[in-house]
This record gives sequence, C-alpha cells and structure tokens, in this order.
Amino acid sequence: MRSQILGTGHFLPDTVRTNNDLAQLVDTSDEWIRERTGIRERRIAPLDIQNSDMAAGAAKRALEAAGVPANEVDLIIVATVTGDHPMPATAVLVQQKLGAPNCPAFDISAACAGFVYALAIADAFIVTGRARRVVVVGSELLSRVVNWQDRGTCILFGDGAGAVVVGPQEDESDRASALLGTSLHTDGSLAGSLMIPGGGTAKPVTAESLDAAENKVFMRGQDIFKVAVKNLTSTCREALVKGSIDIDQVDWLCSHQANLRILDQVASRLGIAPEKVLTNIDRVGNTSSASIPILLDENVRSGKVRKGDTVLMCGLGAGISWGSALIRL
Ligand code: ACO
Repeated sequence: MRSQILGTGHFLPDTVRTNNDLAQLVDTSDEWIRERTGIRERRIAPLDIQNSDMAAGAAKRALEAAGVPANEVDLIIVATVTGDHPMPATAVLVQQKLGAPNCPAFDISAACAGFVYALAIADAFIVTGRARRVVVVGSELLSRVVNWQDRGTCILFGDGAGAVVVGPQEDESDRASALLGTSLHTDGSLAGSLMIPGGGTAKPVTAESLDAAENKVFMRGQDIFKVAVKNLTSTCREALVKGSIDIDQVDWLCSHQANLRILDQVASRLGIAPEKVLTNIDRVGNTSSASIPILLDENVRSGKVRKGDTVLMCGLGAGISWGSALIRL
C-alpha cells in the first residue's frame, strides 16, 4: 500500500515587511538582499497570532480541500522549531483548535527539513495501517526568534504555515496519486552552524544570555550554503531512484525556499528546466518547515500544479538535516 496527498492548505499573516523596512533596522539594502537571496518581502505575524493559530489555519484549509472532517483525523504531526511553548507540543494546540478529539498529536524538530521528515513519518503510519487520515503541518514563527540586530539572519526569515492531509492511496493504477519515495539525512557534526544556542536546558535563560542574544537564531550562512547545494541535489536523486522516476518526468521542483541562488544551483545540477522550479521566496522569504507546503498549496490553488503532476520536494536546515519527497499529486 502507498499513501497519497488528499488536500493542501496554507496560512500567511497579512503584515508585510519589505527589504526597505529592514534597511531602517540594520545596515542593509533592498538591492543587497534581492541579489544575495531573491527575497523582496516577508510576512510577519502580529503578537496576537501564535504559531498554533497559523498551523491550525493551514490545517483547516487542507482538511476542507481534502473533504475530510476534523473528527476523522487520526494523527496530527506539526514540524516546527518555533512552537508556542517548550511544552506541550504545538500539535496538541492544533488538535484543540481543529476539534479533532483524542487522536495522537506530536511535534517534530528538523528545521527547514521538517516538512519532508513529517511527511515521511505520516507515510510510515499509513502504509503500516496505523492511521488513515494524517494532518501534516509545517509552521514557523521565526520573526520572534530572529535577532533583529543581525543583518546576516534577520533579512532571511518570515512567518507562515502550510499543511497537507495524507491518506491511503485510493486508486492503485499506474498514474494514480501517490507518495513515490522519500530520503532523509542528518549530519550532527554541523549542529553548531545554525542554532538557537540558549533557552534550552543546556543554556537556560539568564539575564546575561538574553543580553548576548543567545535565545535568538545564530547562523554561519556560508557553511550552510556550501553543503546545501550538494546535499539537496543528492537527496533529490535518491528520491527519484526510490520512485523509479527520471528527472525528465518531474513536472515541478517544490523546494524549501532558503535562497534563490541555492535553488538555481540545485535545479541546474539536477538538470531540471528553470520553468519547472516553483518559487515564492520573493514574497514570503524563508519560512523554514512551512516553505514547501505553502509553495505547494499556492500553486495547487492557482491551478499551476494539477492532479497527476509529479512533484519533487526537498529541504535542508539546522541540524544539519535534509531530505526529499517525491509525490504524484
Ligand atoms: N546586507 C548587507 N551586507 C550584508 C548583509 C546584509 N543583510 N548580511 C551580510 N552582509 C555582508 C557581510 O557582513 C559580509 O561583509 P564583509 O565581506 O565586509 O565581511 C558580506 O556581506 C558577505 O557576507 P556573506 O555571509 O559571505 O554573504 P553570503 O553571500 O554568503 O550571503 C546568506 C549570506 C544570504 C545568509 C547566505 O550565506 C545563505 O543564504 N546561506 C544559507 C542559509 C540557509 O540555507 N540556511 C538554512 C535554512 S534556515 C533554517 O534551517 C531555519
């Protein structure tokens, strides 16, 4: 048995912060940000919107698209590194907001690879018959953990959530919708390249740690850039092999939106035509685990990505963790 995506949804807060807005905060410019990253603007959640609100908003839209009532959901997985609280999991708040009583709900932490990790977990539950209706959400509120005085990171990130509903394959014919293959990896030796050093149990919050901004994102951007192109390309190739799909048969590359230059280089190494590369980084920035499902849903709703299309998804982030998923929608 295989699993398939039954519906997609996303949620973006209304407030837009442009590159020119950021140039009022740090020594940067619209031109530098656009040329180095491809980002023009990003969405920022106001203080009365929490991560779980965005996650539940995206999940509700995905459930509507799938035609699945909340009381049929039998598992909720939220991929996030910016949950509402250290405890409990954000997924339990999403369960409450969806009105999906008693089903298991948990978070997974794999940063920008979180969505493909969560999708692979959902797939494992479905193919083993342990669940029939799984809500998979990637949701991040990075604006509250970004150091707004660090121009190397604050220009990159935005807030938002995306979701899919996953269920067992309904039709087993050759071209039917299916999750065709996944590939997941981690290299913990690079953990120090991208982290929030404080605020956990290793470095509990103190007045000194707050002064040193240790509760905010720290990143060695170039270290990540170097491995991103290589690892995203190789994980995509693995998913293609698992799915027995040639790159020419892929209709769309729906990658994590970290940096347009990373995306261009991955597409070029894979040999996928630029017109098949989906992007929204110019409008939403890097939304970590939310970026793949937001991008997917935007393109499904606009009619660009259609049922039967083959979509290659990939993401890499803190960990470093990376992975890919190949689907036929
Ligand atoms: N505006 C102007 N100048 C800047 C800015 C800015 N916003 N940021 C850095 N600079 C300067 C630096 O100070 C440096 O100046 P110097 O040469 O005088 O020292 C110069 O620009 C070059 O800096 P680099 O860091 O080398 O710039 P780079 O071209 O590498 O771009 C970036 C930085 C955009 C962060 C890039 O490295 C990148 O995208 N890395 C990958 C990020 C990523 O994929 N992260 C993983 C996902 S996120 C997650 O997991 C949550």
